[in-house]
Amino acid sequence: MSVQQSLIELPFDLDQQRIPAHVAVIMDGNGRWAKNRGLPRIVGHQKGVDALKDLLRCCDDWGVKVLTAYAFSTENWGRPAHEVEFLMTLFERVLRRELEEMMAENVKIRFIGDLKALPESLQAEIAHSMEKTANNKGIQFNIATNYGSRQEILYACQAIASLVKEEKIQLNDINEELLENHLYTKGLISPDLLIRTSGEMRLSNFLLWQMAYGEIYVTQTLWPDFNRQEFRQALLDYQKRDRRFGKLNQ
Ligand code: IPE
Ligand code: IPE
Ligand code: MG
Repeated sequence: MSVQQSLIELPFDLDQQRIPAHVAVIMDGNGRWAKNRGLPRIVGHQKGVDALKDLLRCCDDWGVKVLTAYAFSTENWGRPAHEVEFLMTLFERVLRRELEEMMAENVKIRFIGDLKALPESLQAEIAHSMEKTANNKGIQFNIATNYGSRQEILYACQAIASLVKEEKIQLNDINEELLENHLYTKGLISPDLLIRTSGEMRLSNFLLWQMAYGEIYVTQTLWPDFNRQEFRQALLDYQKRDRRFGKLNQ
């Protein structure tokens, strides 16, 4: 059996009882991957899609319940127009191409972020994919597109402030649960593990509230090269962590 084949099932050195329920991933390094090969950055983005597809399948195979991937940040609009346009078209094309297979695999899709600012044709594809997979009972797959955590928290504050203004709630009703219910991630458990590829040790405006107690794993590997072997390493590292949540362990 080849290494890749053997990784279809949960590797023997991972503890099935301690698989993170929610994994989030900052898929970084597509541009560098392409540059290293003398290719245009967009080729890196194309390759990155394959890496994401395999991670989604791997999460499903190994028992992860929720996967959240950072596809486009609110800050990424600041990139050259042709790269932004390419990415928007890529998202749309991939969604259309992969929807049937994701249906067959029972994947439940959700997009998080300020979707109204996306091209209309992409918005339509997104709405269609979420409706179509709404009753699927398999892995929950969240794609953060035009996502910015500061904006997410601001929008939540505005929504809550209007509830107070309209006297639908009292000041004392504002608590963590209420705020969470106004985030894009409403109803989702917080990530247990966040993986960032290509070495940068920062959150880049991703899941700031939700990552309060999430574990962070950074690998030097560039996103298009991220594979099951890499994911196994991340999970091995995660399973060694002592998640104290501010308390003391006996
Ligand atoms: C991540 O790869 C993909 C997106 C942000 C859309 P990058 O495009 O940031 O790749 P690098 O960081 O420039 O190598
Ligand atoms: C984070 O990567 C955003 C995504 C992966 C979608 P960036 O490449 O945009 O982050 P910075 O600029 O290195 O912080
Ligand atoms: Mg980057």
